[in-house]
Amino acid sequence: MATSRPLALALLFCALSACSHAAISYPPSAMSTAAPANNGFLSCLIKSVPPRLLHGKSSRAYGSIWESTVRNVKFVSDKTVKPVYIITPTEAAHIQATVACGRKHGLRVRVRSGGHDYEGLSYRSAKPETFAVVDLSMMRQVRIDGKAATAWVDSGAQLGELYYAVAKMTPSLGFPAGVCATIGVGGHFSGGGFGMLLRKYGTAGDNVIDAKVVDANGTLLDRKSMGEDYFWAIRGGGGESFGIVVSWQVQLVPVPPKVTVFQIHRGVKDGAIDLINKWQQVAPSLPDDLMIRIMAMEQDAMFEALYLGTCKDLLPLMASRFPELGVKQEDCNEMPWIQSVAFIPMGKSATVMDLLNRTSNIKAFGKYKSDYVKDPIPRDVWEKIYTWLAKPGAGVMIMDPYGARISSIPKDATPFPHRQGVLFNIQYVSYWFGEGDGAAPTQWSRDMYAFMEPYVSKNPRQAYANYRDLDLGVNEVVGDVSTYDSGRVWGEKYYNGNFERLARTKAKVDPCDYFRNEQSIPPLLK
Ligand SMILES: Cc1cc2nc3c(=O)[nH]c(=O)nc-3n(C[C@H](O)[C@H](O)[C@H](O)COP(=O)(O)OP(=O)(O)OC[C@H]3O[C@@H](n4cnc5c(N)ncnc54)[C@H](O)[C@@H]3O)c2cc1C
Ligand SMILES: *[C@@H]1O[C@H](CO)[C@@H](O)[C@H](O)[C@H]1NC(C)=O
Ligand SMILES: *[C@@H]1O[C@H](CO)[C@@H](O)[C@H](O)[C@H]1NC(C)=O
Repeated sequence: MATSRPLALALLFCALSACSHAAISYPPSAMSTAAPANNGFLSCLIKSVPPRLLHGKSSRAYGSIWESTVRNVKFVSDKTVKPVYIITPTEAAHIQATVACGRKHGLRVRVRSGGHDYEGLSYRSAKPETFAVVDLSMMRQVRIDGKAATAWVDSGAQLGELYYAVAKMTPSLGFPAGVCATIGVGGHFSGGGFGMLLRKYGTAGDNVIDAKVVDANGTLLDRKSMGEDYFWAIRGGGGESFGIVVSWQVQLVPVPPKVTVFQIHRGVKDGAIDLINKWQQVAPSLPDDLMIRIMAMEQDAMFEALYLGTCKDLLPLMASRFPELGVKQEDCNEMPWIQSVAFIPMGKSATVMDLLNRTSNIKAFGKYKSDYVKDPIPRDVWEKIYTWLAKPGAGVMIMDPYGARISSIPKDATPFPHRQGVLFNIQYVSYWFGEGDGAAPTQWSRDMYAFMEPYVSKNPRQAYANYRDLDLGVNEVVGDVSTYDSGRVWGEKYYNGNFERLARTKAKVDPCDYFRNEQSIPPLLK
């Protein structure tokens, strides 16, 4: 790709200006095994970080710490490009020292909170590269102010730990974020983050009111000292790009004493296609207290709902808005909100304590893609979709309706742009359990994605940043800076019109592109 004007300026700026990191000189083609020893980095770090928190490749704990939150088993492989060091900080000062020493001695850091990145970018590099990982799993306090209905949560906490702590303080408060309890706060909030409360309260990022972040200079900033562009960028502009977010202050939200959950299966033989056809028109315009999503798999559709109220109130609402689904009293499961948070992903027998379990039972190898739908998909296309779901290697389609709160927030209020006009999000999940090399499921997801093109959002075809997909494009690095033009290819899919502001903000806070990965925001210097 031709060197753009902004890039030329970025190069100039980084070569001649205040960029204080040693030239990070290993070319992308240098094998990680031939990495420099980085002794300077270690001797720098040892002044500020206790040795028990530093793990080199040959140290005893390295393997188990690296693997501890790898949530896509396909990256547990000898071929994976792994960090030369893992640092497990217990306080912000350790993170600051790591960044300062990394800059000084030419070693990049990637940051990992919950390790759920679909492409593993928090703990591996897709290309040969020398880097360290800051693993935040020892920083996961949740401090709640019940009176103000706010909380400070550290990035290393998993969502289940946040939900649990909030409900323990008061059962009348909750928080709108993802469905799976083991997801890390750090990566999730960075990319938006949504779950069963999205129609009532929007994304997790929409509900962040302050943050503590370590910038590329190793300085610890809060909302006031970072300024509003920086604070805007970290609430949905994707992880890794802008610094290491240590802690987030969030606005908690009211939840009623009882919520109602149902999970209703309908087969294609029992009219699932007509139901989905109706669902796509009804679900995005239901009252904000009701979220009905669909998981389509094989020849089945599961309609999964969370209603912020009792079964008694839900039944007449379903009867008037979506009678075809035939929801009955027996389908209702009433429970406190916090119980629903365990029930929905883990089933009837799950307990609230399971939200604290940090051992994941995810054993799957996976490939994931996403789409946004703005116009109802024709009925005959749903029939074809079900023939795709019957093919060899077929995965699951998870469809989350938007509308209500998530769609009424202005597109530029946070970097998450998927707002007004979106009917629903589709996540294509392909998985396998180690048999073969995953070629069939991976190919299925790419073929399915190609088939769907006419029926989903266009110009750009939108995708959700937290469902990371390197098929959408990867940054090209020229002269040690990721290029704006290469970033736009994938970046406008994740962020639409917000991409340019993200790149300008990146240029202000990290012009030398110290924090980067294959899909980090490139700096745009005008
Ligand atoms: C089983 C499963 C279920 C999921 N369910 C949902 C869901 O219901 N809703 C939804 O919205 N998404 C969901 N996701 C996607 C999830 O939101 C993203 O993968 C998210 O980025 C994970 O955050 P993490 O901290 O666990 O990941 P990590 O792998 O630790 O990080 C992801 C990215 O953020 C960066 N990052 C991590 N911590 C920080 C930090 N403190 N500061 C700056 N950058 C950081 C990393 O470097 C990496 O680039 C799911 C993923 C999985 C695997
Ligand atoms: C935590 O979850 C794992 C995986 O599902 C399970 O094997 C283990 O028994 C759970 N631990 C506790 C204490 O419940
Ligand atoms: C980082 O430090 C340099 C040199 O002191 C300074 O010019 C720059 O503004 C700082 N960056 C930020 C984001 O504060």
